[in-house]
Amino acid sequence: MAKHTVALIPGDGIGPEITSAMCRVVEATGVDIEWEVAEAGAEVMDRFGTPLPNEVLESVRRNKVAIKGPITTPVGTGFRSVNVALRKELDLFACLRPAFSIPGSGARYDDIDLVVVRENTEDLYAGIEFEEGSAGARELIGFAADQGAGIIRPDSGISLKPISVSGTQRIVRYAFEYAIANGRKKVTAVHKANILKHSDGLFLKVAREVAQEYADSGVGFEDYIVDATCMQLVLHPEWWDVLVLPNLYGDIVSDLCAGLIGGLGIAPGANIGLEAALFEPVHGSAPKYAGKDMANPTAEILSAQLMLKHLQETDAAERVLNAVREVIAEGERVTYDIKRSSTGTTDGCVGTQAYADAVIERL
Ligand code: NAI
Repeated sequence: MAKHTVALIPGDGIGPEITSAMCRVVEATGVDIEWEVAEAGAEVMDRFGTPLPNEVLESVRRNKVAIKGPITTPVGTGFRSVNVALRKELDLFACLRPAFSIPGSGARYDDIDLVVVRENTEDLYAGIEFEEGSAGARELIGFAADQGAGIIRPDSGISLKPISVSGTQRIVRYAFEYAIANGRKKVTAVHKANILKHSDGLFLKVAREVAQEYADSGVGFEDYIVDATCMQLVLHPEWWDVLVLPNLYGDIVSDLCAGLIGGLGIAPGANIGLEAALFEPVHGSAPKYAGKDMANPTAEILSAQLMLKHLQETDAAERVLNAVREVIAEGERVTYDIKRSSTGTTDGCVGTQAYADAVIERL
């Protein structure tokens, strides 16, 4: 197999520990891979005046494939999310978050095999916001009143929720193409079109039109309101197959799905665009565990497993998945979170690197 060069963004918090564990696992598969390390996040901000230096974007663009650890976003103030900026700058419009049961994880269910396809570039995540009291907020409040669209209280902060025809077409098409390529049977569009008529309503209308294009594909289509989806996911997680959602619902529902399969520590993800693909776990930087060799690297390792599939290293990808499954099923050398959910206590758990060693032994 050809040599692959991959941009590696270790991130901050638990990022550096779990990415180093992941790199060791990937290297142990024998795949010929070179990491081009690119730093982003709060520490980089102190040194370069920006949390996302141009070199990082260039590295991802040049290599077309990247894997990252989580990056902290200051709440309310400070810089905007580097994670969101990366997705926007590189137009990584599809966020793929598979959720499947791993026996031994201590999850409440054992028969889940679904995929969340989250739109990654628009909706309330677009970052178009007007601060309370700003000239922009005042003007927008006046504009909405003049248009007869509604009265907004003068002391409001405002975040916009744009959803476009083209953005919806490409994410729903991506969901169908993914379903076809992966032998899936059904795509469900999730929305709140009954209330948000011009944003989610448009999403639903376009999703139905795109579904028509795939009427003979063998992949079925249905739509579901987001609140009902959450309830049914908890009641009957085995019902679901591929879910396609606007950005914010996709964010929330994928954490819900991570909870269904045993927690954030094991939920992988990928951000896919036409020019690049960036793999990263669903979870964040879990600052309270940073530097303690405690965090579970499974989500990062399984994100690498998705990356190996993307690089067409299918044999290595399968070995990584099987090794993770075996170590978790055995339950002896697992991190604190899995130990706690499977036995009720963290007694006998191992650290991040010792868990990675166990995975490597099983490859
Ligand atoms: P978080 O996902 O970092 O952590 C929430 C809790 O989940 C942790 O306290 C821990 O109990 C558990 N957890 C998460 N990952 C784990 C792992 N690998 N092993 C074991 N337990 C794990 O979410 P939180 O606290 O809301 O966010 C922390 C920071 O991360 C914030 O600054 C946030 O903006 C950022 N973040 C970054 C993301 C990214 O880089 N893509 C995604 C989500 C959040």
